[in-house]
Amino acid sequence: MRIQLYSLPILSLVLGLGSAPLLSQVSALPHLEKRGAATQFIVDGKPYLMLAGELSNSASSSLEAMKLVWPRLAAMGLNTVLTPVSWELIEPTEGSYDFALVDGLLEQARAQHLHIVFLWLASWKNGMSSYPPVWVKRDTRRFPRVIIGGNEVEVLSPAAAVTQQADGRAFAALMKHIKEVDSSAHTVLAMQVENEVGVLGDSRDRSEAANKDFAAPVPSVLTAYLQAQRDSLDPELHALWEANGAKAAGTWTELFGPTARADELFMAWRYARFVHGVAAQGKAAYNLPMYVHTWLAEDNAKPADYPSGGPQPRVLDVWKAAGSALDIYAPDLYASDFSGWSNRYHRDSNPLFIPETNSGAAGAANVFYAVGEQNVLCFSPFAIERSRDEKGDLTASYNAIAKLAPLVLDRQQTAGATHGFVLDKNHPQVDFTMSGYTVHVTLDEIFGHSAQSGYGLIVSTGPDEFLGAGKGFRVSFTPLAAGAPKVGINAVDEGEFVDGKWLPGMRLNGDENDQGRGWRFSSWQVSTEKVTLYRFE
Ligand code: DGJ
Repeated sequence: MRIQLYSLPILSLVLGLGSAPLLSQVSALPHLEKRGAATQFIVDGKPYLMLAGELSNSASSSLEAMKLVWPRLAAMGLNTVLTPVSWELIEPTEGSYDFALVDGLLEQARAQHLHIVFLWLASWKNGMSSYPPVWVKRDTRRFPRVIIGGNEVEVLSPAAAVTQQADGRAFAALMKHIKEVDSSAHTVLAMQVENEVGVLGDSRDRSEAANKDFAAPVPSVLTAYLQAQRDSLDPELHALWEANGAKAAGTWTELFGPTARADELFMAWRYARFVHGVAAQGKAAYNLPMYVHTWLAEDNAKPADYPSGGPQPRVLDVWKAAGSALDIYAPDLYASDFSGWSNRYHRDSNPLFIPETNSGAAGAANVFYAVGEQNVLCFSPFAIERSRDEKGDLTASYNAIAKLAPLVLDRQQTAGATHGFVLDKNHPQVDFTMSGYTVHVTLDEIFGHSAQSGYGLIVSTGPDEFLGAGKGFRVSFTPLAAGAPKVGINAVDEGEFVDGKWLPGMRLNGDENDQGRGWRFSSWQVSTEKVTLYRFE
């Protein structure tokens, strides 16, 4: 993770200015920065939350088709669009680049005040190699492929240096071009490198070259990492290594046992070296944050059922040992255990970034949890242009969160000052501590009617004061700090932030706060409310 700072004298030299420029003229690139308790995405000097959506794979290959899409995405409350750009379309002939599509997409996005994260669909997409240009696909001697079950499959081998150089050269050309056309506008915020890498159909490549490498000692960079990071390794990897004697050197099976788990670690090393290499070539041209993402393994799935070698939590240490050009390892989070997978990816060294997830009601709920509980950098339902949600649940959530974003991003910097939750009949309540209180959140219930689902976030905004947003839940408080033992609701105000200022609307008393017995968010719409409390004997 890096922090970019330009010193004023150096910048003034670069700009050819006689005196140091005003701070407002200093425009660091979009980057990640640790601010207090949170790692945040910084754009033009301020923390930025990507309320995003990812286009389906082919949508952005036609500027004509995209003309109609951008205004709808803006109307849905998105501020960022994850937009595919493929190797085949920018380098149709070797060494000759065509960036007309990239330029057109930038122009269209800017017209709607939208930011872009480009997805580099190149050597691999969902494990396969459908996106390289045809001069790569047809030259199987120069660009070798993976062998599975004795057959060459249409998957480029991650061990081939020549493929990595060709892919990296094209990616670097793309980054150089983005720098030329966008380094002052910052429309492009980050890059995804490749797409869900890994081998499908077998746990590893069975080519002669792969068999030879698999029988050779594990690279010393990786064994040194295992020893240096012994206490912070992923628990599954740590257990596997320990179970095989925690050796300091040896072959893949000597270190990790004679099972598909060793194959998966071996493939992870190969893909990681390749992808870090491509990312590094791109960063050398234009240094934007870069991530890879993962087709998550379902319970009991074997490496082969999901792409073997992709950055699953249990092989993340291998990816990290393999290089430092990738800033984030991200899950494609379609699984029902949204919080469990979020916790597995969100670590001190890895902020949570969700490039693909469900849209609709599930997305509308999960975004509150991801922002409030996990400090997510990017929340991005897939195939967003097909979701037709302009008046739907996701749009309501995005609109509410967008207004709160400056406050929430500021409070995320203090540990425990924001919380998010999703409730349903199976998980009807959650408790957390915040600002001197235990906060009890339950599904809303009034006059015998109970909500079927609820979601929201709560931010502590001052002594005895909280701000919340969401729907279908109610909140009560138990004091933790010394003082009068009971807590009452002083006032609940519905309202909104306009230009960073809280503008109260209705005073919510009566049924809206259950006659003073609870802070309620009814089920019929997403609302934003502030509560102040008082203590009494
Ligand atoms: C994950 C991939 O990364 C996407 O490109 C797309 O294929 C989706 N799966 C489909 O659900």
